[in-house]
Amino acid sequence: MKLEIISHNDLIDSANTAIVNKAKKALFESGIIGIRDVPRFVETNRDYINAARQFSSLSKNIKEQYAPDRDAGDTEGYEQGAEWFKDQNGDWQIDDKKISYYAFVPDQPQNKWPREIDLKTPYLALGKLIFETGKHLLNFIGINDSIGIPHHELAGYGRMLHYQKENDTHAHNPNWCGAHFDHGVFTGLAPAYYFKNGEEVEEPKESGLYIMPTNSKEFIKVDAADKSILFFQVGEFGQLIMNDHIRATKHLVKKAKDNIERFTFALFYSCSDNIVIHSTSELTKDARYADNKLADGRVYYKKWGDASFARYRAR
Ligand SMILES: [Fe+2]
Repeated sequence: MKLEIISHNDLIDSANTAIVNKAKKALFESGIIGIRDVPRFVETNRDYINAARQFSSLSKNIKEQYAPDRDAGDTEGYEQGAEWFKDQNGDWQIDDKKISYYAFVPDQPQNKWPREIDLKTPYLALGKLIFETGKHLLNFIGINDSIGIPHHELAGYGRMLHYQKENDTHAHNPNWCGAHFDHGVFTGLAPAYYFKNGEEVEEPKESGLYIMPTNSKEFIKVDAADKSILFFQVGEFGQLIMNDHIRATKHLVKKAKDNIERFTFALFYSCSDNIVIHSTSELTKDARYADNKLADGRVYYKKWGDASFARYRAR
């Protein structure tokens, strides 16, 4: 699959119909698009990767001070392997090599930040850059106030991702992150960096991000060798809002062998809790919608989001 890439310079001009159509085609047909020329993106991502690696090198005891109280409904902070996804045989597989650090972007009082190192500054800088860039794409595909989703009602939710090295050659789970759809509106993804014994290495041929294009039944690898390209893909709430005119992007992350670890960052576009939509999407049959909808058929973003977190939280 050829990844469609457009320049950040062209995002500013929503009157350029050729560019708008190119972006729409990429997101509607393959479910992924790359953006180049994002100002200061490579440096901002590098600063973040350095901080993420510093945080990951702290002891487990220190990191666990920043774990959320999941039972109280919190998700902000440090988390190790708390998600599971069904594999092709229908069995739940826990992503046990995945470490996350969640925080709202821009900063919110409920965010937790480590005191030992400055993760906060580079995390928020990268998150904000991605958040603002993707809003142009949302305008291109019509997710904005024209359909009751004004951008000031969108919240950025960041996720630091550290996929730890796999040293068990018989490990049951071939993926760092099992096949799934993101449950929010839209997702920005920074290109990943890989390390072996502390040294940066190229992305191994077989590992990394794979997506299933909208009209395909097979996963294909996304070429993420160019570290200046920022990716965007579609989430399920985006599909709900758009009544299936755009579809959520199914994706997974394949593990590397040979003790290689991977660092990346995802920025999820959530809606404010009070956003309520009426959808005719096939996803309304999903229990997360069907069991949470109001008498008139509408569903609150909060109900959808909470049900999604509950489903994929490994027990
Ligand atoms: Fe995802």
